[in-house]
Amino acid sequence: MSHRNIILIGPMGSGKSTIGKIIARRLHREFQDSDHFIEARTGVDIARIFDVEGEQKFRDRESDVLIELLNVNDRVIATGGGSVLRGENQRLLKQKGYIVFLDTSLNQQMQRLRRDKKRPLLQTENPRARLEALLLERRPVYLELADLVIKTDKRVARRLAADIIDRLPENIK
Ligand code: S3P
Repeated sequence: MSHRNIILIGPMGSGKSTIGKIIARRLHREFQDSDHFIEARTGVDIARIFDVEGEQKFRDRESDVLIELLNVNDRVIATGGGSVLRGENQRLLKQKGYIVFLDTSLNQQMQRLRRDKKRPLLQTENPRARLEALLLERRPVYLELADLVIKTDKRVARRLAADIIDRLPENIK
């Protein structure tokens, strides 16, 4: 029997890839990370794509990759933090998977991303202000899309993954 995909959404630094990998391992599912998929496809990193092609082109690539990744069931998929912005992506995510929002505080994001050099949107004078602005804009969208909301603060990835699995509806696990 095949299961709907489990899709992790949330801001940069919320642990989507780390937690997604653990969930996939425990449920014997394939794990995919949309950013990694784009990097593998293009042979360059996300920062370079932003640099050369600009954010809109990156968003086009991201939408294409979501269609491809969600075309198959039984996966655990970590999305990029901005993938929920486009209406077409929102509809696709809703239709093709069970959506888990990793709800993370700004402080925790900062702790994880303080020294980040890979995320183009954070290469600014004040990454905290940028993260805050993005969260303000996107958190309502994450909440609206989510089938399950998990607070991630002060909890280790292993526990969070176990908690998510416990709370998945029976037809998803
Ligand atoms: C972005 C998040 C990143 C990556 C890109 C843009 C965003 O993914 O897609 O740097 O707009 O929030 P992560 O959420 O995996 O860091």
